[in-house]
Amino acid sequence: MELKEEILKELKKSEYISGEELAKRFFVSRNSVWKAVKKLREEGYEISAMTNRGYCLKGDNDKISAGAIMRNATREREFYILDEVSSTNDYARQLALDGREEAVVIAETQKLGRGRLGRKFYSPKGCGLYMSILCRPRINVELAPLITSYTAVATALAIDSLCGAETKIKWVNDIYMNGKKLCGILTEAAFDFEGGTVDYVIIGIGINVTGREFPKDISDRASSIEKESGARISRNDLAAAILNNMDGMTEKIGLKDYLNIYREKSNVIGRSVKVMYGNSSFDAEAIDIDDNAALVVKTADGVKKLNSGEVSIKI
Ligand code: BTN
Repeated sequence: MELKEEILKELKKSEYISGEELAKRFFVSRNSVWKAVKKLREEGYEISAMTNRGYCLKGDNDKISAGAIMRNATREREFYILDEVSSTNDYARQLALDGREEAVVIAETQKLGRGRLGRKFYSPKGCGLYMSILCRPRINVELAPLITSYTAVATALAIDSLCGAETKIKWVNDIYMNGKKLCGILTEAAFDFEGGTVDYVIIGIGINVTGREFPKDISDRASSIEKESGARISRNDLAAAILNNMDGMTEKIGLKDYLNIYREKSNVIGRSVKVMYGNSSFDAEAIDIDDNAALVVKTADGVKKLNSGEVSIKI
């Protein structure tokens, strides 16, 4: 762990701590402590210094930082941490076009955050985790649609483990708690048609972490982890937990075991739903999710399998 990370950890534990004490603790000079504090300030941490008392970490310091994510991550990754961006998915796509193999892009806010079906994704500053993962899984085109359901499981389990409350997954890829949406996933991919393989995938995950007020058009169904569970979790810890759960995705998707958790967490199976499919809609009963993550529904015309589309749950 870098000195600045060690110092940050100490600052989080105590109200004030002197440069001398920090220097002793980490066997470094006071000048090295000062340089590490300077770096932390440059990264956006608000650290005040008081004569005779020392350094103190101020305010809400859950600023997204690669170092803080790496503290809990199981492997190295290339991070792009941005203050503001149009969309992290667009930024990640440019990295893919520039030839990057893998990257993680996270922004404090998105000006043009995108959701599925051409919708906007509300991305206010500092309240959410807006993250896009660029990867190049060596899988056949037929398995690619499973990436979204795999990500939904990885993200839902990460949220559960950190906030101590239980999320549900609304087919295909929305994560709910207490009947309110906390998270959406937008997966975009480029294929190599000749080889029948995936060229690159961008997995965009948007999570409302804090935040209590939402715009009028979504206020009846959107909420945040903090509002629903009462837990104030760190966005850096959340990012690390999701990335750890995403590890091994290529192999796990092929085995399909994760689909059992996807089914267990479904808030749709066994419910009456309205299916929106293209320009039409019909009523159905959701009865299962199959091994291709398709929703199996019973309708007046018999059983159907839906590979895409959207369902709304009828009360
Ligand atoms: C949805 O709810 O329909 C999907 C929302 C996906 C939002 C995330 S936030 C990070 C990434 N960047 C985007 O522009 N969209 C995704």
